[in-house]
Amino acid sequence: MKEEMQELQQRALEQIAAAANESELQKIRVAFLGKKGELTAILRGMKDLTAEERPVVGALANEVRGLLEKNLSEKQDELAQKALSERLAAEKIDITLPGRRPLQGHLHPLTQINRRIQDIFMKMGYTIAQGPEIEDDFYNFQSLNFPKDHPARDMQDSFYINESILLRTHTSPVQARTMQSQEPNTPIRIIAPGKVYRSDYDATHSPVFHQVEGLLLDQGITFSDLKGTIEHFCREVFGTDTKVRFRASYFPFTEPSAEVDISFRKRHSKGGTVDTSEEWLEILGCGMVHPNVLRLNGYDPEKISGFAFGMGVERIAMLVYGIDDLRLFYDNDVRFLAQF
Ligand code: PHE
Repeated sequence: MKEEMQELQQRALEQIAAAANESELQKIRVAFLGKKGELTAILRGMKDLTAEERPVVGALANEVRGLLEKNLSEKQDELAQKALSERLAAEKIDITLPGRRPLQGHLHPLTQINRRIQDIFMKMGYTIAQGPEIEDDFYNFQSLNFPKDHPARDMQDSFYINESILLRTHTSPVQARTMQSQEPNTPIRIIAPGKVYRSDYDATHSPVFHQVEGLLLDQGITFSDLKGTIEHFCREVFGTDTKVRFRASYFPFTEPSAEVDISFRKRHSKGGTVDTSEEWLEILGCGMVHPNVLRLNGYDPEKISGFAFGMGVERIAMLVYGIDDLRLFYDNDVRFLAQF
């Protein structure tokens, strides 16, 4: 029995030493020390021994069990350590690699220009007014002195929802709404930024675009106030060397009326060389508020006069950034937008 145990001890130690991982080690433990294990079987056979032999074999069996347990637990620690260092090596992070910057967005170029326009007028004491994009024919046309048969009311230019409701074709209805919200003849100095809608689509027209309306009413306001305001605005946005051109024009709600053009250098590339020529782009309509509009909205043209203007934000952004197709602003191509 003694040899049997020594042989068992030898085999067990060899297997423990050779175990490659923790689950193999667990199988070895069960095979020798488990309830049905080899050493357990030997101990069960002890009942057949003589009274003298029993304590000797018992002591030896305990010694073997102790030795195996010690080896098992050492091997267990060794394997756990090995598994840990393998994992650490596999999950290693190279902190010397350059970091990956998260993509950060910024304001859309149209929003940037819109804010710039607002800043310039706010410095001149204007406040911001707003009106609905779904507008009544009354505010969009009638209160602004549009004759009943004016072509702008045509179904082809305007998006009608029913006979009298439409998507506003300009921000000018905010003029009428603001006048009507005031005590008659109160001075007004507002700008009204917002979306407007027209059935138009090409490189310089979009069915949805942005305007900024302006209205200034007070005693003794003249056309030179209008001119000075617009020229100051243009110099602020486009720089001091920009040329500003006032062209006589017509709007039902202003008299006299003007359209304002801005000069810019257009680039032409011809056979490898780049040529530039001076061109003009219309950016706004303006004029002295028509006496009929003042009267229709509760103001007395004998006491109060003023001017109004409406500018196209996309047009201004095209000039500031040198872009020749306004549809690019709506394509949402990050390669384009990231440049501004
Ligand atoms: N509402 C006009 C347009 O959209 C612009 C304008 C505004 C003209 C105010 C004169 C005064 O074309």
